[in-house]
Amino acid sequence: MLSQKIADRINVQINREMFSAYLYMAMSAKMAQHGYNGIASWLMVQYHEEMFHAMKLYGYLIDQGAAPRLDKIDAPAVKASTVKEIFEATLEHEKFITGSIRELLELALTEKDYATENLVRWYVNEQVEEEKNAMDILQTLELLGDGKQGVFMLNIELGKRKPSIALDFTSIAAS
Ligand code: FEO
Repeated sequence: MLSQKIADRINVQINREMFSAYLYMAMSAKMAQHGYNGIASWLMVQYHEEMFHAMKLYGYLIDQGAAPRLDKIDAPAVKASTVKEIFEATLEHEKFITGSIRELLELALTEKDYATENLVRWYVNEQVEEEKNAMDILQTLELLGDGKQGVFMLNIELGKRKPSIALDFTSIAAS
């Protein structure tokens, strides 16, 4: 059984993860418009990863007998237009999500809610990878140089990314 405070904060996190999915979908569309299909594909994989993050929290609320509250998702504003700016914005956003996960963990600890703590620690580890992914790509861009040839090679490389999670959320919804 969850406290209302924890359930409310998890609902906020679900909204932030759904917004993240929406943001990466918008970035993917922008990269596709510029002809970077491999980068667009990488960002669409990221969209699915974010939906998984949201659904894992949703499933946890259901398992705990709490009600998921589906709030309005803000429209993402993608100001970035170059590949470098896209991944700088990605890193910036992931740092924000890391801070949000840390807040949730601190609340779980304050409330002595050890089940939620266990769940949120998975997200703590996941955020290390999320930030690393963006940092690695920025570093690669730096090494290749952000001229057309370097970006072209990165586009091919990033197009190989496959989702690390199952894309069918039916079992989460039915848990
Ligand atoms: Fe769900 Fe990219 O953090």
